Amino acid sequence: MYKTTAAVRSAFLEYFSKHGHQIVDSSSLVPGNDPTLLFTNAGMNQFKDVFLGMDKRSYSRATTAQRCVRAGGKHNDLDNVGYTARHHTFFEMLGNFSFGDYFKEDAIKFAWGFLTEVLQLPKEKLCVTVYQNDDEAFDIWNKQIGIPAEDIIRIGDNKGAPYASDNFWQMGDTGPCGPCSEIFYDHGEHIWGGRPGTPEEDGDRFIEIWNIVFMQFNRQADGEMLPLPKPSVDTGMGIERISAIMQGVHSNYEIDVFKTLIAKTAEIIGVTDLEAKSLRVIADHIRSCAFLVADGVMPSNEGRGYVLRRIIRRAVRHGYKLGANDTFFYKLVPTLVEVMGDAAKELKALQNVVEKALKAEEEQFARTLERGLGILDGALAELEGKVLDGETAFKLYDTYGFPVDLTADVCRERDITVDEVGFDAAMEEQRKRAQAAGQFGADYNAGLKTDADSHFCGYQDTTGEGKVVAIFVDGAEVEGLMPNQEAVVILDNTPFYAESGGQVGDKGELKAGDSLFEVADTQKYAAAIGHKGVLKAGSLKVGQSVAAVVNKKLRHRTELNHSVTHLLHAALRQVLGSHVAQKGSLVQPERLRFDFSHFEAVKPEELKQVEDLVNTQIRRNHQLQVAEMDIEQAKEKGAMALFGEKYDTTVRVVTMGDFSIELCGGTHVTRTGDIGVFKVISEGGIAAGIRRIEAVTGAAAMAYIAEQQQELHDAAALLKSEAHTVVAKLKAQLDHSKLLEKEIAQLKSKLAAAASADLVSEAQDIAGVKVLVKQLDGVDAGALRGLQDEIKQKLGSGIVVLGIAGDAKVNLIAGVTKDLIGKVKAGELVAMVAAQVGGKGGGRPDMAQAGGSQPENLAAALASVTDWLAAKL
Ligand code: ALA
Repeated sequence: MYKTTAAVRSAFLEYFSKHGHQIVDSSSLVPGNDPTLLFTNAGMNQFKDVFLGMDKRSYSRATTAQRCVRAGGKHNDLDNVGYTARHHTFFEMLGNFSFGDYFKEDAIKFAWGFLTEVLQLPKEKLCVTVYQNDDEAFDIWNKQIGIPAEDIIRIGDNKGAPYASDNFWQMGDTGPCGPCSEIFYDHGEHIWGGRPGTPEEDGDRFIEIWNIVFMQFNRQADGEMLPLPKPSVDTGMGIERISAIMQGVHSNYEIDVFKTLIAKTAEIIGVTDLEAKSLRVIADHIRSCAFLVADGVMPSNEGRGYVLRRIIRRAVRHGYKLGANDTFFYKLVPTLVEVMGDAAKELKALQNVVEKALKAEEEQFARTLERGLGILDGALAELEGKVLDGETAFKLYDTYGFPVDLTADVCRERDITVDEVGFDAAMEEQRKRAQAAGQFGADYNAGLKTDADSHFCGYQDTTGEGKVVAIFVDGAEVEGLMPNQEAVVILDNTPFYAESGGQVGDKGELKAGDSLFEVADTQKYAAAIGHKGVLKAGSLKVGQSVAAVVNKKLRHRTELNHSVTHLLHAALRQVLGSHVAQKGSLVQPERLRFDFSHFEAVKPEELKQVEDLVNTQIRRNHQLQVAEMDIEQAKEKGAMALFGEKYDTTVRVVTMGDFSIELCGGTHVTRTGDIGVFKVISEGGIAAGIRRIEAVTGAAAMAYIAEQQQELHDAAALLKSEAHTVVAKLKAQLDHSKLLEKEIAQLKSKLAAAASADLVSEAQDIAGVKVLVKQLDGVDAGALRGLQDEIKQKLGSGIVVLGIAGDAKVNLIAGVTKDLIGKVKAGELVAMVAAQVGGKGGGRPDMAQAGGSQPENLAAALASVTDWLAAKL
């Protein structure tokens, strides 16, 4: 019974459902609204706020089979994968949860019931741990369950700090936590290892299978433990471990899911040794990679995307080690979808996207891998000692895209370690260089510090009154300005929008009487809004009141581009899929730029669909709704938030009809119709998995269209046709050109034939062999080969050498009839001549071509042929 992973999964969920638990879907691997967490790494993540009392659900008991990734961040198992029996980058955690409903007693009874009654594990194979002073849990195990006291092990703070214990579980440095009780399974005497708490506990004999956490506290950043509103329960059982027990195997890699993936990998790559460690690595990695992509992560150079990239690259490298000579990794996705069954619902829906993304990354990596490995091999061959220096590791990273753990992985196979401190130092150096380069010659106010707090009144108005609260020149605070001085002026109240969220800062003027400060840009400095520019006339002093006038025209054009960015974002998600996420944007008066995740070029028909969709929404002329609300409320409404962005608890939500709803602090049009028209001007890739669209709106779009139209008219005029017949006319012209080219080629070969007839008469006799050596300037190089053939044919038996001296260039050809190749090889002959004109060449014994760079030496080089041949013949 329960011999498959799928059977264990459904038995678990059914059991807890029968005991009043709501079956809840696994949440995404990308934690919703939790910047403290890289990836979902435990079943309780999606319930964090419920434990804290900040979120209410309609149920107080839940059960899940949660997909988790532990690769990067606080819990990182990546390096161990493939080398141990139980480490994975991806695993599924079975869990049951009580939100202020049952506590220790039921939690323990449920777990015991499932293991011993449903799965029917022998009781004597199980032992348990409790937190040092948790007498309550101890008594439940002892008196109610009947576990002998000697089989209940108390574990204290064994990790060097209060509450730092194997039996005190915390999600992170802050948040819900509590003492826990763990259940261990004894795999038998034949495996080395001891019970928890003994010196042999790190062995593989006693394996922790289930962790039952009694959630009681909310840990604060300063370490203080505040009680949770209600005592709760969070449990977690790794499905791979319990499946291994049910399937009678010791290593997780021997369970059905992994066996199938390993067999498929071996089949694709053509490996017969199913024990190869690399097969395990690949079987593990395809799980994390495929599910991460399905959950919206794309390979990139930062954050989550970089972790994904590292895992893919590690897998691909292990494939190469096994002898793969083609892309293979993405081919595992269909098998994965199959073996994961119910757990692969979302993955199945996005299978196509996932395969494409993995394939693209694999191909990109393949291009650099070979060169990188070559460099690494070279460095390792020359290495003295057992540590590879950080500089080399960094160069591999920087130039060949080798994640440092990949380098470490290769090194580990040869018992060499990488100087990671040196690597980090080189990385830091690079960062500093990049920063310095970025600031080069630019910001005369860099580093400006101020406590001033400016109020922004520019959502409604483009003019306003403000008092000068500070002035900075070259980063230093001053009291007043002289004409022509460049400065940053801070006002207490201003309609000027400071650059943020991709929208550029406003330009305009600050005026007071005859004084005029021209604002070229507006930036934020902490809470202050700084107007950067030059005092054109009069004077300006701290304390003075000024009229702040934004350049309305530019602001308005910027707004068209900002509002349309929201429509574009929503349209891209509709047309390409929900994996599309905004990765950056630039909103200027002239145009907009929008970067987003997508694994391949957007097809022309898709782009057209996007453009049409946006224009339709513009024509619908939606009134923009802008509302301030609580972040939770905004999310409930489905507002799109930017990944990794920090938001205040109160956010601004911009809604356009039923089409787009986004969190945004920028300024916008009143109605979508204001945008007028939207026109994409380019689409392209800027990094693996990241595309960029540039587009224009309103008058700029009309100007762009007019310009294109003008080009079309100009082309029509050149072709002496009408705009609507340009294509047909051009096609006819191209066909005609092709015909002419063909005729020219035919004529050339006729000419060559005629010329060859003349040339043959010039052949000389060297030791009874007919030899023709000739410089043919002005002849097309493409004709040489045919000419050489003709001459050979006409000679019947003989040798021919032809050369053309062009502009700083020489073309050579040598031909030897078959009967003579025993004596003279065309390849050697042409090489001999080429060497004298600064070139190299070679080829077959009967025909060989070469080039050169010294036309001035061609005559002498050809003259040398006679003597050279005389010596050979
Ligand atoms: N949250 C607990 C764990 O991850 C159950 O072990």
